Amino acid sequence: MKLRIALLPMALALGVALAGSSGNVALGTAQQSSATGPAAPQPPDLASIPAGKQGDLIRQGKDIFDQTPTHAKAYVGNRLSCNDCHLQGGTEPKAAPLTGVPGLFPQYSQRAGRVISFGERVQECFVRSENGTPPPLDSPEMNALLAYIEWISQGVSKQEALAGRGLVQVPSLTGNPDRGAVIYQQRCAVCHQDNGSGVPAVVPALWGRGSYNDGAGMNKIPKMAAFLVKAMPPTQPGSLSPQDAYDVAAYIHGKPRAKFNPAYSKY
Ligand code: HEC
Ligand code: HEC
Repeated sequence: MKLRIALLPMALALGVALAGSSGNVALGTAQQSSATGPAAPQPPDLASIPAGKQGDLIRQGKDIFDQTPTHAKAYVGNRLSCNDCHLQGGTEPKAAPLTGVPGLFPQYSQRAGRVISFGERVQECFVRSENGTPPPLDSPEMNALLAYIEWISQGVSKQEALAGRGLVQVPSLTGNPDRGAVIYQQRCAVCHQDNGSGVPAVVPALWGRGSYNDGAGMNKIPKMAAFLVKAMPPTQPGSLSPQDAYDVAAYIHGKPRAKFNPAYSKY
């Protein structure tokens, strides 16, 4: 996280960020839901993780969340961390937050075609977004991750969880990959690199061996477009129009990546 924050001035120096960005600065505080109704949950203060065994488990889960390839190595097949897509330690509303989400499970999964537990939903992200293998539900890594996610979920009602859940709404558009290539060069390549590899431990990979496989949610153009409108570039979130986001997502979608292992299609 410190490294990432350190990167932002570098990007600024390179002229990536434009002046006058909105209040929603990258790596800043979570926003309230603007809709009427329950506000999206606010993240708890990390300093309030309790001392003792349970606290250690929560901290271990936070380490796995932030640096998955290092702390859950046996189950990861790329270089992505949960935190690369579930922003602010999984607490940022409309950036696929996990706050309160355990309370919404068990739930029917259209992809799996069955009712799944929250632990099984985490396994899905391991076999798709992490291009890895499912950590057993009773493994130390899974226990730690679940302890952390339960901890950020404490006191969050179902209504609050639903208010912040998922990604922002974007209209259904058609992306133009050629236009997307230009946007990529102008607005993304400085961090994610010309070859999409990112910068290990600082900027995540968008395609190739370091990235998610073709069974991941991020591999769907509308889903990536929604993520981009909300979060990228982190120096100026909200600056891509929905059409820009579809175009650059269509460009990234055309790049090579690992195939989803059909042995895991029950996830
Ligand atoms: C490449 C990006 C990416 C990575 C890396 C990733 N996820 Fe996800 N995850 C997603 C997307 C996209 C969704 C679906 C969000 C949506 O459609 O609302 C999702 C959904 C989930 C959900 C269900 C959320 C809900 O509201 O039902 C859980 C739980 C989850 N991920 C856990 C994890 C964990 C734990 C890790 C790390 C081991 C991880 N994910 C890594 C992209 C990612
Ligand atoms: C200033 C550096 C920077 C720029 C510019 C930038 N990103 Fe990112 N990107 C990041 C970082 C860092 C993350 C990890 C999440 C976080 O910490 O905000 C990320 C995460 C992502 C993710 C989710 C993780 C993954 O690897 O799939 C996608 C998709 C993405 N960026 C696409 C883009 C696109 C497309 C652009 C250009 C429109 C862009 N980014 C511009 C730094 C950048």
